[in-house]
Amino acid sequence: MSFLAASLSKIKPSPTIAISMKAAELKASGKDIISLSMGEPDYDTPINIKQAAILAINNGDTKYTAVDGTAALKKAVINKFKRENNLEYKPSEICVSTGAKQVIYNALVASINPLDEVIIPAPYWVSYPDMVLLCGGTPVTVESSSENNFKITAAALEEKITTKTKWLILNSPSNPSGACYSAAELNELAQVLLRHPHVHIMADDIYEHLTFDNLKFATIAEVEPKLKDRTLIVNGVSKSYAMTGWRIGYGAGPEKLIKAMSMIQSQSTSSPCSISQAAAVEALNGPQNYIHESKAVFQARRDMVVKMLNNIAGIECNTPNGAFYVFPSCKGLLGKKTPEGKIIENDSDFVSYLLEESLVAAVQGSAFGTPNCFRISYAASEDFLQNAMQRIAAACAKLK
Ligand SMILES: Cc1ncc(COP(=O)(O)O)c(C=O)c1O
Repeated sequence: MSFLAASLSKIKPSPTIAISMKAAELKASGKDIISLSMGEPDYDTPINIKQAAILAINNGDTKYTAVDGTAALKKAVINKFKRENNLEYKPSEICVSTGAKQVIYNALVASINPLDEVIIPAPYWVSYPDMVLLCGGTPVTVESSSENNFKITAAALEEKITTKTKWLILNSPSNPSGACYSAAELNELAQVLLRHPHVHIMADDIYEHLTFDNLKFATIAEVEPKLKDRTLIVNGVSKSYAMTGWRIGYGAGPEKLIKAMSMIQSQSTSSPCSISQAAAVEALNGPQNYIHESKAVFQARRDMVVKMLNNIAGIECNTPNGAFYVFPSCKGLLGKKTPEGKIIENDSDFVSYLLEESLVAAVQGSAFGTPNCFRISYAASEDFLQNAMQRIAAACAKLK
């Protein structure tokens, strides 16, 4: 009998983390690596947030808190939903966890039974399908295309809904494509979902504050209030406030689900870090200028990266309207030969070649369910990005 659980045979380690580790290893060995593979802001956490954490330590806020989050943080989360999304929640409809990742995992553990299906638009964040598999469910992918800016259509969604569909996971702005649905586009999807009342919606809004070109962020429960009682909004402070290491995420949804998620948390990790929760209160309640400033910087970086990539023969990149990723196609370079005579057969070969030849770490599109593409995170300084794009261009020019 195998010692390890059978469910483990269905999943793999996160490919984005694997590539970032490989890049870090090469860097440690003295190679001049530029890693554009990680999904985190390159800024430091704002000073007022750090000070709130220091104050919490000095005040002795160093003990377990309520499992589903402190009253102060729940209040800040409720105020955030009212202020930014025009949504009302009660404290019993909020659960704070150790990152948005734990919110998603708790929700799936709380709801998935064998044979349940979870619809996931591709390209998708790497963890969704593996979490569904780990919980014994079946991920069902809906394809999108670059022509449609990697957004799914209402018809494509409806085609995938069966009597077994438990969830649709909607991530906007998206990791990895950067695609952000407008309110009108969400409304089209909402009309389909209204016809299928057994389908729940997990709206992963973690990149909410990174929308560009004056696009106003919208979330589906706000666009179609009739869906609110079967929607779980997942959000957190990681990306918006450069707090990835603090590990605070939160979920807002129907009380019954939130209660089940809290119970799972009570039997696994207990409360999230007390100090990080105090810092998150300051992030949500304090001055919000950081968000606006970082948004402008990211938009400028996006424009530079898209322009430089589109100047490379064989690469095509559309202009995403959110997050800090671009998801260009490398299709035009497949079948070409490296200077060492190796054929670039697919997107994985392409990113391996980039790492070896240009010392730039990117992630293959197939890791996100969409082959022939690759993901670049532009959460890096303009100098780094410029240097990286020049190196990629030089490496591509050597492919014959
Ligand atoms: C789409 C998406 N959802 C959730 C998360 C998890 O965020 P957190 O750091 O809050 O766990 C990430 C992080 O990369 C992400 O890209």
